[in-house]
Amino acid sequence: MKALVNTKYGNHEVLEYKDVEKPAPKKNEVLIKVHSVSLNSSDMENLTGHPGYIRIFGPFKPAIHILGSDISGIVEAVGKKVSKFQVGDKVVVDLLMICGGLAEYVCAPEKRIHKKLVGMSFEIASTILQAADVAFQGINTKGRVKQGQKVLIIGAGGGSGSFAIQLAKHYGAEVTGVDNGSKLDLMKSLGADHVIDYTQVDCTKTKERYDLILDLVAAHPLLQYKSALNPGGKYFIVGGKLSRIFKTLIFGPILSLFSKKKMGMLFVKTSKYLDDIVTLVKNGIIKPSIKHKFDLKDAAEGFRLLIEGQSKGKIIITVVKSR
Ligand SMILES: NC(=O)c1ccc[n+]([C@@H]2O[C@H](COP(=O)([O-])OP(=O)(O)OC[C@H]3O[C@@H](n4cnc5c(N)ncnc54)[C@H](OP(=O)(O)O)[C@@H]3O)[C@@H](O)[C@H]2O)c1
Repeated sequence: MKALVNTKYGNHEVLEYKDVEKPAPKKNEVLIKVHSVSLNSSDMENLTGHPGYIRIFGPFKPAIHILGSDISGIVEAVGKKVSKFQVGDKVVVDLLMICGGLAEYVCAPEKRIHKKLVGMSFEIASTILQAADVAFQGINTKGRVKQGQKVLIIGAGGGSGSFAIQLAKHYGAEVTGVDNGSKLDLMKSLGADHVIDYTQVDCTKTKERYDLILDLVAAHPLLQYKSALNPGGKYFIVGGKLSRIFKTLIFGPILSLFSKKKMGMLFVKTSKYLDDIVTLVKNGIIKPSIKHKFDLKDAAEGFRLLIEGQSKGKIIITVVKSR
C-alpha cells in the first residue's frame, strides 16, 4: 500500500510517499481502509520532534513512522476477537499516540473506534476528533463557560481554536481570539468578538480581564496569565513547550492556592465526548473550518503549511475521494 513515511525528525521534506507493507489486524484490532485524515499540530510535533516530550519514546529517531491520527474510513477486515464492528462499517478513530492514518490502510484497536454518523461526509468526520475534543473539553470541562463571560482563546485560528471560538460563542461568551495577523478574518468569521494579532500585541498586557483563558500554545509566563484573569477566572494550558507545561504542572496548583483564580493543565480525554460533539455538528452549532485539502501523495504540503504557520482551520488529507 502507499503511505507517507517519516524515518527521521525534520520538516516536511523528510516525508516520503512510498510503498509499505499493508498491515494485518491483531485479534482486537480492525483494519480500516482510510478515506480521510485531518492533520493536527500533534502530527507536526511528531514530525519535527518538538516540543521535547515528543522524544520520550524516540530520543533520536521517531518512534512513529506513519503519522495521521484523526481518521475516517471503512472497515476492511476485523481481528478474531472484534465484536462491535464488521466489514463495510463506516468508522472514525482518533489514534493519538499511535497514528498510522497517512496511508491507504491502518489498524486500530476496536475500543478506540466509533461508528461514523450517517450522512456526515468522511472529510467532516475526520475533523471532529482531536481538535474538537480539545475545544469541547477546554470550553466545557470544570465548569462550562456562562453567558456574558469573557473568554480568551490563544491560538484561536488553528484547528482546535476554530472550534473553540464557535463553542464559546454558542454558550453566550464574549470571545477574544489571538493568532497571527493572517488569521484575524477567519477568527472574526467564526464569531470572535475581538481579535488580537500576537505578533503585534501581548494579549496578557491589555486592560482586558478574562473569566477563562484557553491556551493552545503556551506563549506567555504563568504570572502574566494570572494577572489577565478576573477573580474566579480559570486558565488552562493545552499544549506548547515542554518547559511551560512543566511550570504549569508545578506552579499552577501553587498559584491557585489561596486564590480565586485557578490555573492548570487540561488533559484531553480522547473521544470521551464524541457523541456531544457529533450532536453539535449535526445541529450546525459548530462547523469544521476546512481551508486546505491535499491528496495523500501531496500531504507533505499540509505539513509545510503547519510548520510555516500558514495553515488556517483544519487541513484535510483525502486518501479516497468519496462521501
Ligand atoms: N493536553 C492534551 O491532552 C492535548 C491533546 C491533544 C492535543 N493537544 C495540544 O493541543 C494543541 C492544539 O493545537 P491545534 O491542533 O489547534 O494547533 P494548530 O492548528 O497548529 O493551531 C495553533 C495556532 O496557534 C497559533 N500560534 C502560534 N503561536 C502563537 C502565539 N504566540 N499566540 C497566539 N497564537 C499562536 C498558530 O499560528 P502560527 O501559524 O502563527 O504558528 C496556530 O494558528 C497542541 O499544542 C497539541 O499538542 C493537547
